[in-house]
Amino acid sequence: MVGMKPLSFLISALLAISSTQAETLIVAHRGASAKAPENTLAAFQEAWHQGADAIEGDFRLTKDGKIVTMHDATTKRTTGRNLVVADTDWATLKTLEAGSWKGKNWHGEKIPLLSDVLAAMPKGKEIFIEVKCGPEIVPALFKTIARSKVALAQVTVIAFNKEVIRAVKKREPKITANWLSGFKKSKKGTYTPDLDTVISTLQEVGADGLGAQAFGELAHDLGAKLRQHDLGYHAWTIDSADMGRSFVAAGVQSVTTNKPAKMRSYLATEKASK
Ligand code: G3P
Ligand code: CA
Repeated sequence: MVGMKPLSFLISALLAISSTQAETLIVAHRGASAKAPENTLAAFQEAWHQGADAIEGDFRLTKDGKIVTMHDATTKRTTGRNLVVADTDWATLKTLEAGSWKGKNWHGEKIPLLSDVLAAMPKGKEIFIEVKCGPEIVPALFKTIARSKVALAQVTVIAFNKEVIRAVKKREPKITANWLSGFKKSKKGTYTPDLDTVISTLQEVGADGLGAQAFGELAHDLGAKLRQHDLGYHAWTIDSADMGRSFVAAGVQSVTTNKPAKMRSYLATEKASK
């Protein structure tokens, strides 16, 4: 039986790897935004229809303190009217049409409130709330979540702004909050920020993990470094099979994609071929 030990160890290691991969969340980026207009209820509905585990959306505070779903600081790209979200009341923003830019079939889609997005979440699904403004949103954010049917455990807050993550974790240490970082590659082939800076930033703001811009070359080392420090690892935005598979192999807990159904099939195909 002693001779069985290496084999049973190998089997349990393989099982551990495959169960990690099975649990990788598929997060629909701005909803299923390859098909439907980003950050609308139609895009989030399409994400659930495509079998996403979670949706990601971008949120900002309006002039009168409501939380709306909008990626850019202005409404120009997705509605045609050039209004600064932070300087505009909800009464005006709710009249805008946010679907036609993606195709005439989507005409009539509106800018949703965060409360609308939460109300439309199926049981057991998750949401990655990306805060696109500053920490001034935090009191309204917690009030909106508390008034919804969605539990804190279903919510991950993400932000590039370190002060947002710091304020969220200070207000509610139990909520998951991940700092987002892009990476720039120099001519010498080095990346900014470097991995040590990433770790020290996460620790300094009290983040639970990193939402990393997907650079294939960084995937493995970044995963190893984050695991070493007991920090979560998430990647955006990945639409190709190869990239999805390589980030899952590098140990990400979630893959954020514009094409949730396709990503699900890419990752399932890899499992079947193992
Ligand atoms: O999930 C993070 C990702 O959404 C950040 O990029 O520009 O699409 O908000 P962006
Ligand atoms: Ca986003």
